Amino acid sequence: MRHLIDITDLSLTEREALLDLGEEMLRHPGDFADAARGRILATLFFEPSTRTRLSFESAMLGLGGGTLGFSEASSSSAAKGESVADTIRTVGCYADLIAIRHPKEGASLKGAFYSPVPVLNAGDGGHCHPTQTLTDLLTIRQELGRVEGLTVGFCGDLKYGRTVHSLVNALAAYRGVKLVFISPRELSIPGYMKEGVLRQMPYTETDSLPDALPGPDLLYMTRIQRERFADQEEYQRLKDSFILTPQLLRPAREHMVVLHPLPRVNEISVAVDDDPRAAYFRQVKCGRFVRMALIQTLLSGTLAPRPAPDWREYPDCICQNPACITAVEQEPRRLFLEDGEVRRCAYCEAVYR
Ligand code: NCD
Repeated sequence: MRHLIDITDLSLTEREALLDLGEEMLRHPGDFADAARGRILATLFFEPSTRTRLSFESAMLGLGGGTLGFSEASSSSAAKGESVADTIRTVGCYADLIAIRHPKEGASLKGAFYSPVPVLNAGDGGHCHPTQTLTDLLTIRQELGRVEGLTVGFCGDLKYGRTVHSLVNALAAYRGVKLVFISPRELSIPGYMKEGVLRQMPYTETDSLPDALPGPDLLYMTRIQRERFADQEEYQRLKDSFILTPQLLRPAREHMVVLHPLPRVNEISVAVDDDPRAAYFRQVKCGRFVRMALIQTLLSGTLAPRPAPDWREYPDCICQNPACITAVEQEPRRLFLEDGEVRRCAYCEAVYR
């Protein structure tokens, strides 16, 4: 069975096919109004959400299917201490597809191990968010017409910003992409990515948005992720590190596109919204159609089986990352991946030392 836990679970050809179908659905939504008639999507949200949950639900309704779920952990049996595995096994009896968002890294992967139906990762802690990446890729296609050769600036919280991590992983598949990471040093792109996917991608790092701005074709702004900070004083110190204003945008390229997964807090001034380069609300619309394409594709069962990564069980190794699902829930399968010199936790990708 195919799940979508990490964007690399889809081959490049499969991603492109999903984007083609998403575009087709955007143009002719009426043609797909019955595609999922009689099928059910469950949305299990243990963390707040507006766009991801509602776009999943709207997508399923647009295909003629039904939805059920919860939008906070406190209204589910998680509040009584139920594990992700047991919740998924249960909901798998009620639904044909499960979208799950959880504050712990690797929670969706763990869910997939126990699920009788396909699982979609709608965000696992500060780790990954692959359906946002499909949204971003469709928006890039619509706005810029291509991904190859783009210079992409990522600005804000690159440490905890899961949408950044997944999009970087996706961009690695395209030729000629250059990355510019703009963040305070404390919130720079995680070491596990520098020791992983970024080994084969050209990138620079800076803490100055004005210095970085003349370069990119695409500027991907992100919110400082308050809920992930162990130290709220540090959050207060860093929260207004970057604020994109019309004045700052002046030296940027005329065709540059500004994306943001939203919600925005303070990092883009509302005065930027009227700039034609501000594409973040158009991006929201893409999210609905690319999720329609994903749901239809998974329900149709047309994706060919793919071998799982070469995970190995190391019963004596315990992942040291406190944000990993294995740190808070018992998990008999302690899975790791041997990646060159390093061993990574299968759930959260943290390097095991
Ligand atoms: C993002 C998320 O939840 O990771 N939003 C989204 O899904 N569109 C970004 C964020 O919360 O800052």
